[in-house]
Amino acid sequence: MFAPFNTRIVDWNGQRVWLIGASTGIGAALAQALLARGARVAMSARSQAGLEQTARGNVHAMVMPFDATNPQEWSSTHDSICNAWDGLDLVIFCAASYQPMHAWELKADEVRASLETNIGNVCYGLEAVLPKMMAKAQGGLAIVASVAGYVGLPGATLYGPTKAALINLAELLYSDLKPKGLDVYLINPGFVKTRLTARNHFSMPALLTTDQAAEAIIKGFGKGKFEIHFPRRFTSVLKVLRQLPYRWRFALIRRTLGL
Ligand SMILES: NC(=O)c1ccc[n+]([C@@H]2O[C@H](COP(=O)([O-])OP(=O)(O)OC[C@H]3O[C@@H](n4cnc5c(N)ncnc54)[C@H](OP(=O)(O)O)[C@@H]3O)[C@@H](O)[C@H]2O)c1
Repeated sequence: MFAPFNTRIVDWNGQRVWLIGASTGIGAALAQALLARGARVAMSARSQAGLEQTARGNVHAMVMPFDATNPQEWSSTHDSICNAWDGLDLVIFCAASYQPMHAWELKADEVRASLETNIGNVCYGLEAVLPKMMAKAQGGLAIVASVAGYVGLPGATLYGPTKAALINLAELLYSDLKPKGLDVYLINPGFVKTRLTARNHFSMPALLTTDQAAEAIIKGFGKGKFEIHFPRRFTSVLKVLRQLPYRWRFALIRRTLGL
């Protein structure tokens, strides 16, 4: 009935993808799944060894390690990839850090590091990639946020607000950039078993493997969705929770978490 929000990416053959956060977890599984579908994937993260493990010597993989909190490195890495491939079709922002933390545990240096890694990195990336993409009026940006950005959950004192900010950023980017010919995808995973969630000491509902997460993301690209969220049995519950009046919402959170 409605037109899709974005270009439906169904044929990955020859697509030029830059995936930041590809050394482990969801990003590594997604990079491998895209390579298996014929995409060319430039892979970034700080760990060169991790990226090489993801690339597995695939000729269509380009290993481009850098620190995504460094704006200059964004720019030089982007130039190198574009020079090699004459442009990019899709940039996937998947890098982030997470430390479970309550409000009374906040420390200024961790606040700065978290803002830099989770929000700064995407903003620096936009500054680096947008001029070329806008000049060609072609290409897509995919931002990996989280369902932790839907509602304020205790324990996610830094992580939750950074992911809420990315959801907001993706929404405004869609309105800003769609009229200029660019696609913007927002990816909100539920719980996925990675080194990031290994820090959680509670039972995670509807926990997925990284391969399941990668498949869900690729399926979402194939449908041209704006928001790709999964697994629906978990994300739908959080979406309802988000709509509830605060009195009910806080009561439900307290009861569910046993506070
Ligand atoms: N796992 C979940 O349940 C879940 C749920 C919702 C959303 N997410 C989101 O999904 C994304 C991937 O998370 P994950 O669970 O797969 O975690 P992960 O295994 O810890 O992967 C995080 C990736 O980000 C990279 N990274 C971190 N800091 C970086 C920096 N300064 N510069 C460059 N790369 C950096 C890491 O590589 P290096 O350490 O080598 O730099 C790694 O490749 C994140 O955005 C996360 O917030 C995860």
